[in-house]
Parts: sequence; C-alpha cells; structure tokens
Amino acid sequence: MPTTAETLARTGGKHISHVLFSEEQIARRVAELGEQITRDIPEGEDILVLGLLKGSFIFLSDLVREIRRPIEVDFLIVSSYGSGTESSGEVQLLYARQASIEGKHVILVEDIVDSGTTLNRLIPILETRGPRSLEVCALLHKHIAKEMVRDAKWVGFDCPQEFVIGYGLDHSEKYRHLPFVGVIEP
Ligand code: PRP
Repeated sequence: MPTTAETLARTGGKHISHVLFSEEQIARRVAELGEQITRDIPEGEDILVLGLLKGSFIFLSDLVREIRRPIEVDFLIVSSYGSGTESSGEVQLLYARQASIEGKHVILVEDIVDSGTTLNRLIPILETRGPRSLEVCALLHKHIAKEMVRDAKWVGFDCPQEFVIGYGLDHSEKYRHLPFVGVIEP
C-alpha cells in the first residue's frame, strides 16, 4: 500500500515499506492484554506497572487504561542499542525507581523483546529487590533469544525479523510517534 500523505507528513517524506500492525489491530490487542492482566493478577494486591523507556511509553499509556485494578506506574531507563539497528549486547541502567518494589506485583512493560539481552540483564537486578511477582508484558516478541531468564507472560504480537518502527519504537530516535508498527524504507 502506498504511504499515506498523513504518514509522510509525520516521517518527513520517508516511505513505509509495509505496515505490520495497524492502529486498529494494536488497539484491539492492547485491550485484550489489559483484560488478561486484570484476570491474572489477584484482587486486593499492590500492582506496579514499570515501563522501560523510551520505547514502551505509548504502549504503556494505552495498556494501563485497560487494566481494571488499582495500580501504580513508574519507569526505568535502560539502553541497549546505539543509534543504529543492531543490538550491542550492552545494557545500561540509567534511571531506576527509588521507592521500594518489595511485595508488589511488578509488570515490566517492554515495547519489544528482540535479542532478549535487556530482560536477561534487568530481571535479575529487579528480583534482588523482593517483588511479590515479576512478569513481563511485551507488545512485540521476535522469539529469537536462545535462553531467557524469564520470558514475557503477556505478548501482543509475534514480530518478524525486521527492523520495526512506530508506536514507541524508533530508528535513530525518529518515528516513535507513528500510530502503527511498520518497516521504514531504507
Ligand atoms: C529497545 C527496546 C527494548 C530493547 C529490546 O530499547 O525498547 O527495550 O531494545 O532489545 P533486546 O531484547 O535486544 O535487548 P532501546 O535500547 O533501543 O531503547 P529505547 O527504548 O529508548 O528505544
């Protein structure tokens, strides 16, 4: 499908080679994830939704509005990519919640599980802080990691092996604000 004028206005004239998940598909799936989370977490217990910045910011904003429970929201900043398209394998924890996560059901929100490096490095660090439970909700999952310390309990979509942008995901910090997930033309 040709890139719409509205999208071209957002990309500065760059064409989208294909849309993988449309705005409508994402909205439907996010609502389902919110329902699943609401069902899966016991009532009356403390829930902390912890978003990994920056990629999760749009997904998390939509997801929390679909969770029918009292929750807290906070964010972590880690960085595993440089400005290119390949995972470097390094994870830096740049900002972490000061208040305790002890005794809470922590839902770690990721936009994408790619190599799995981020979660494999981050989960052991968070586990030492005594959460009641720690589970991952990822919008996209590439299923290429050989071993995961803890795989995502809730996954929006299986993602093909392409460099995807939009709905929070960037290429060199651009295209996060596109309302769909797609692949940009080189
Ligand atoms: C991306 C993405 C995930 C991580 C997944 O973050 O948001 O957090 O990489 O990759 P992995 O499974 O190979 O570790 P990035 O470091 O690009 O930062 P960003 O969220 O600010 O875009």
